[in-house]
Amino acid sequence: MAKRDFLAIADFTRDEIRSLFDLAERMKQGAYREEPLAGKTLAMIFAKSSTRTRVSFEVGAYQLGGQALFLSSRDIQLGRGEPIADTARVLSRYVDGIMIRTFDHTEVLELARHATIPVINGLTDLSHPCQVLADLFTMREALGGWEGKRVAWVGDGNNMANSWIEAAQVLGFELRLACPEGFEPNRAMFDRAKAAGACVEITEVPEEAVEGAHAVNTDVWASMGQEQEAEVRRRAFKGYTVDAELMKLADPTAIFLHCLPAHRGEEVTADVIEGPQSRVWDEAENRLHVQKALLAVLMG
Ligand code: CP
Ligand code: NVA
Repeated sequence: MAKRDFLAIADFTRDEIRSLFDLAERMKQGAYREEPLAGKTLAMIFAKSSTRTRVSFEVGAYQLGGQALFLSSRDIQLGRGEPIADTARVLSRYVDGIMIRTFDHTEVLELARHATIPVINGLTDLSHPCQVLADLFTMREALGGWEGKRVAWVGDGNNMANSWIEAAQVLGFELRLACPEGFEPNRAMFDRAKAAGACVEITEVPEEAVEGAHAVNTDVWASMGQEQEAEVRRRAFKGYTVDAELMKLADPTAIFLHCLPAHRGEEVTADVIEGPQSRVWDEAENRLHVQKALLAVLMG
């Protein structure tokens, strides 16, 4: 059987996402006792920092009977210039799956092309599909699903925004993004979604995106690797803070989501992230359950 990767939300169909979430739900409820990763190892390559991704994958692999190896790209030969294609072929001889977090998305594609085992995208500059899966699962838990729902994205058109666009394309909900000029999401991904009939719109006005939304989403203004641009970005994103005033425009049942880490007082105010509409801790927890389901499907 051909190996299967998870590099993008669009690698799964709508039905596959539904059954993945059914499995994740059983895992979350403690109704799943199998150990599909017994005797198996997940290698986790990190070229960027991580709390949630690292811990949830490592604990998840362990809970499924397997183990995970944390490989900082600074410590392995990849960081000294060993080709990613060679790393892929060598790791494929030792382990049963690879999760990678890095900068350049093409490195992940190259790794997946040369690996004979499943590869999982744990965030690149282009996308963050594992996080958006957990966000969708959180929406399903809190709102009963995404059918007929409107999702707002406020802030940077970054890796998270790009994966939300793919999610809207695959699942068919409405997505409205509010991004300042020059900080729009990936053009090719947006155009592809539109061409596929997705209900995705971009505006520069946060109020337009949030109006009537059932889930309001944001993320940091300067992502990992953009630390030098933080000051310029703070100026460019003025007016894009998700605060209580903005949340009032959303549907009364709306939830607030943030992949974390968050910068209180920048992209979100403390009262919103700590408030009754916030689901950020469930969202973080759900990384574990959804990724366990993913590991069981890909590596089990
Ligand atoms: N949301 C998320 O991916 O968090 P980490 O950077 O801590 O892994
Ligand atoms: N957009 C953020 C997400 C962190 C989980 C970043 O890339 O740093």
